[in-house]
Amino acid sequence: MNIPDITIAIDGYSSTGKSSFAKLVSRELGFLYLDSGALYRGVTLFCMENGWISAAGEVDGMLLRPALKGLDLHFGKEIPGHLYMGEREIEKEIRLMEVSSHVIPVFALAFVREYVDEILHREGNGGRVVMDGRDIGTTVFPNAELKIFMTADPLVRARRRAAELEAKGMPSTIEEVLENLKERDYMDSHRAVSPLKQAQDAVVLDNSDMTFQQQMQWLLDLIASRWGNSR
Ligand code: DC
Repeated sequence: MNIPDITIAIDGYSSTGKSSFAKLVSRELGFLYLDSGALYRGVTLFCMENGWISAAGEVDGMLLRPALKGLDLHFGKEIPGHLYMGEREIEKEIRLMEVSSHVIPVFALAFVREYVDEILHREGNGGRVVMDGRDIGTTVFPNAELKIFMTADPLVRARRRAAELEAKGMPSTIEEVLENLKERDYMDSHRAVSPLKQAQDAVVLDNSDMTFQQQMQWLLDLIASRWGNSR
């Protein structure tokens, strides 16, 4: 199948498997993958290492703002690309719980969002790119040719997340995870800055009962129906 040179924007709720799906799409279609959440996590790590996040969770924007001019965050050449801060690979560090728990005050800053959007625009401008996040189809690439909004039954998501945590040696009950997911859904959809919402022209992918292969087939069928199947 000839895949057109399009931009694919994937947005959706936490723990719906956005990044796993985006990575699969990147590998299967040979598209560049840009993980917007990784960039927010990279800026958060930068703040933490400089001591710019107080014990109360406040970010020192006066110091961060000018420093962002010299902060080189970029994706490496691996497929999918890992995140680098200058020469240093930071892919593992940005996934630590400590970073996850400090990211909220960082991504809420308008100048941080501008910084991240600039990187996404610079790296993603040529097409043949898949990006995932919360506001890609609505704010960052509103002209993306294909927008997908991912969702899944909260209980299914909680089960998946609990299994992931268990595998990482952090067991927790389904009830705890479900409660946390509902809170995050609410916060993501109600926050003041770039709240998560479905773009009008996005196609919903509810993967509650779908395997990765089925999701990939769903995408290929969607592309074929829109751009013609030249298999
Ligand atoms: O997808 P993730 O968990 O790696 O994202 C990290 C955080 O960044 C998450 O709390 C939501 C936020 N985020 C955002 O505000 N906008 C995006 N486009 C992507 C992520």
